[in-house]
Amino acid sequence: MSYLQLSDITKTYGHFTALDNVSLSVDKGEFVTFLGPSGSGKTTTLMIIAGFEKASAGTVEVGGQSISQLAPHERNIGIVFQNYALFPHKTAVENVYFPLQMRGVSRTQGLRQAEDMLSLVGLKGFGHRHPKELSGGQQQRVALARALVFEPSLLLLDEPLGALDKNLREQMQIEIKRIQRSLGVTTIFVTHDQSEAMSMSDRIVVFEKGRIEQAAAPLDIYHRPQTSFVAAFIGESNLIPATISSAAGKTAENPALGAFDYAGADNALSDGQKVTLLIRPEHIKLSRNPIEGRRNVRMTVETIVNYGDNALVIGRAGEVTMRVRVLGADVVIIKEGEECCISWMPESVFVITK
Ligand SMILES: Nc1ncnc2c1ncn2[C@@H]1O[C@H](COP(=O)(O)OP(=O)(O)OP(=O)(O)O)[C@@H](O)[C@H]1O
Ligand SMILES: [Mg+2]
Repeated sequence: MSYLQLSDITKTYGHFTALDNVSLSVDKGEFVTFLGPSGSGKTTTLMIIAGFEKASAGTVEVGGQSISQLAPHERNIGIVFQNYALFPHKTAVENVYFPLQMRGVSRTQGLRQAEDMLSLVGLKGFGHRHPKELSGGQQQRVALARALVFEPSLLLLDEPLGALDKNLREQMQIEIKRIQRSLGVTTIFVTHDQSEAMSMSDRIVVFEKGRIEQAAAPLDIYHRPQTSFVAAFIGESNLIPATISSAAGKTAENPALGAFDYAGADNALSDGQKVTLLIRPEHIKLSRNPIEGRRNVRMTVETIVNYGDNALVIGRAGEVTMRVRVLGADVVIIKEGEECCISWMPESVFVITK
């Protein structure tokens, strides 16, 4: 059942369209992540939900009621934005108490609730400190506590971990997920970080140029992208232009690489249709000689990028650049400039029609 409903939201600034007919429903308790290039409309969407920006057209509903006419403070939404700083002259507990104070909660009761919330975010005993006496991660936790203390109906997080180093970031990802689950608060999280989106979300919404390209579970976004943009944006990919040679026989053809068998597709296909084939680099095997039972193609290795536990081998097969992910020791069988075989199974070929 939809809890937050965005319907045909458009936002224009003069002649520029920042959001173009964005519709999305979010279930109660769901953790949804907005992912997309810079300028694709993620923050604008959050600002409209929060009430800091007014949509040029479209509606926002929570629990079946339009909130479009409500001022931000009437919307009962908790917000953590990257630059939504704590009050420097207030202590941590006073910061967390602030939204309760605004809602008329007495000081005694409010400070107690604020202390409880600080414990929940792992800051028991830190309440008396001022922001400047806290680390970046601790400050983010205070901001999170402040956004959650009044039991918001929605939690909006816009790149809240952007300023943190990798270790702290991972720690906070786990923390945010834990708190979100324990409170069951419906959450929208914005990030640039794909792996963060993959690991934290119930659903990922991919934005591009003010439109939603795809909204789906993380593994569907990865394995069944509906557009070439999503396939290229998420993870590493081989995108091969092809023509369906037989929809009944599930084969497609690329002029340089020849015939491809594919296992299935999400859309109905017809003979002669132009499509894009996706093969993820980790689904391709690298070998000296052809491997029986797989589709084999010869490739000349151009570049090997080592990541320690794995390597990305980039080469040319026909006129097509192919990327192959190899694990650990497998990479030593081949050197740059050498010729090898790459091979895959039909199940690893996904047909994209847009
Ligand atoms: N007040 C404004 N006036 C004009 N254009 C604006 C305004 N606010 C945002 N935009 C434009 O709207 C588009 C969407 O901006 P938005 O901040 O939503 O992007 P974003 O997806 O959050 O990007 P980022 O990942 O860089 O934070 C951008 O092209 C931006 O320049
Ligand atoms: Mg933004």
